[in-house]
Amino acid sequence: PLEQLAKTSPTRLLELSPSIEDDLKLAPGFSSKVLISWGDKINKDNDTFGFNNDYIAYIPLEGLKDEGLMWVNHEYVHPLFVSGHIIDDSYTRKTKDQATEEMKAVGGSIIHIKKQNDQWVVKTDSPYNRRLDAFTPIPFSQGLEVYGSKTAIGTLANCAGGVTPWNTYLTCEENYQNFFGEAVYEKNDNRIFQNAKWQMGWDIHYSHPPEHYGWVVEIEPKTGVAKKLVSLGRFSHEGACTIRARDGRVVVYMGDDANDECFYKFISDSTDSLDSGTLYVANLESGKWIPLDMSNPILKKKFKNQTELLIRTREAAHLVGATKLDRPEDCEIDPITGHIYLNCTNNVPAGRPYGSIHKFIEKNNDYTSLEFESSIFLFGGEKSKISCPDNLAFDKKGNLWVTNDISEDEIGQGAYKPFGNNALFYIPMSGQYQGVAFRVAQAPNDAELTGPFFSDDGRTLFLSVQHPGAKTKDLKNLTSHWPNGGNEIPRPSVVAIKIPDFL
Ligand code: FEO
Ligand code: CA
Ligand code: CA
Ligand code: CA
Repeated sequence: PLEQLAKTSPTRLLELSPSIEDDLKLAPGFSSKVLISWGDKINKDNDTFGFNNDYIAYIPLEGLKDEGLMWVNHEYVHPLFVSGHIIDDSYTRKTKDQATEEMKAVGGSIIHIKKQNDQWVVKTDSPYNRRLDAFTPIPFSQGLEVYGSKTAIGTLANCAGGVTPWNTYLTCEENYQNFFGEAVYEKNDNRIFQNAKWQMGWDIHYSHPPEHYGWVVEIEPKTGVAKKLVSLGRFSHEGACTIRARDGRVVVYMGDDANDECFYKFISDSTDSLDSGTLYVANLESGKWIPLDMSNPILKKKFKNQTELLIRTREAAHLVGATKLDRPEDCEIDPITGHIYLNCTNNVPAGRPYGSIHKFIEKNNDYTSLEFESSIFLFGGEKSKISCPDNLAFDKKGNLWVTNDISEDEIGQGAYKPFGNNALFYIPMSGQYQGVAFRVAQAPNDAELTGPFFSDDGRTLFLSVQHPGAKTKDLKNLTSHWPNGGNEIPRPSVVAIKIPDFL
């Protein structure tokens, strides 16, 4: 019946059926063009666009029409494509040159873009175009020292992010443990080093403390000046959704994308900075935001000081009884109702493979409130057509766009068979089809659609096509050739999608 509804929709929106095809497929009325791909030159210094583009943020340049600075995250690399290192070979055999090559391909890009003859293009001669990568020195906020240093080397694992009310970018370091491992604490608080399951092998050639990663990084668009915001805590930061509260302070909502991890919010002290403020974690049973600071005797007993607490945010959250969720990913705020939507992608070990979308309503719709109500807005599965929701974006009309992320090894397999390749869904939030998901774009093989971000006029959706051909283990057997086709290797790319007039 949902299919029937969609096909007879007065919005003339015909949706795609799920399939496994090596193409970026679009529903009728949509069109797209590649804006930039991995390896493209972005400036005169021959810096190149990094690998596995994820979060996108576009900030218009003052006084100019259809022209602005775009930030794009580069989350991680496929070693075979970037450095030639064979996936199945031991990471310990990665050479220093290979590690270096890979480290230059993560982080983020700032690119100056403009609309020319109705198409978005990159201005490669712009002085603003630059890269931040795993070698860029980035200080911690407020001159704080984190594990013996006031400056971290590089940013990595940059998944989703946000934009502040003062127009800076936020980029979130997510699965940092894959790069320089993790520091864990034994019962007696003895710190020990732990390798990740998917170690990249960079730590053989470069040594950095794990504590320097797992932060939200704030970046000035025009200068590229960056800092790691200690105040926002350290965990597998998916994204950072910001909003100005009625009293002028800024609130940031953040998911920690790991099984049985939590949902956080930060309330700033001032109206123009995220450097200081209070970090809270959600308890969904009591509907309360619990502060993570030294005012709590349990936390005061456990941690030496606030910086140590923030370095070990997860431990603090569990100690105060935060609700464990099914991999909380991206969250966004409905511009019409003010309600907060959070994607929980799945929890396979707990037997919940499809995920869900949660809705949070702050008491009195006040973002600084410490009480809220929550409910499930959408259950993942065959009925809703969405499995493993990941990123989300609201358009100017208040309708919701959701991308899903079934891992490349599971696409088309087992429980995920009915869902085909990963996709982009449009969900009207009012009218006859309120809450019904329409499948409007489908990713090429092994890929995930990430980073949905609307242009100022809402008529272009910038979207990342991340990790096409991720399952490739040998260059003679490529699992994707997107976007160039033929025998070409796949290239993660940002596309500009034109939204049809009827939406
Ligand atoms: Fe990098 Fe949680 O997705
Ligand atoms: Ca994500
Ligand atoms: Ca994901
Ligand atoms: Ca991803």
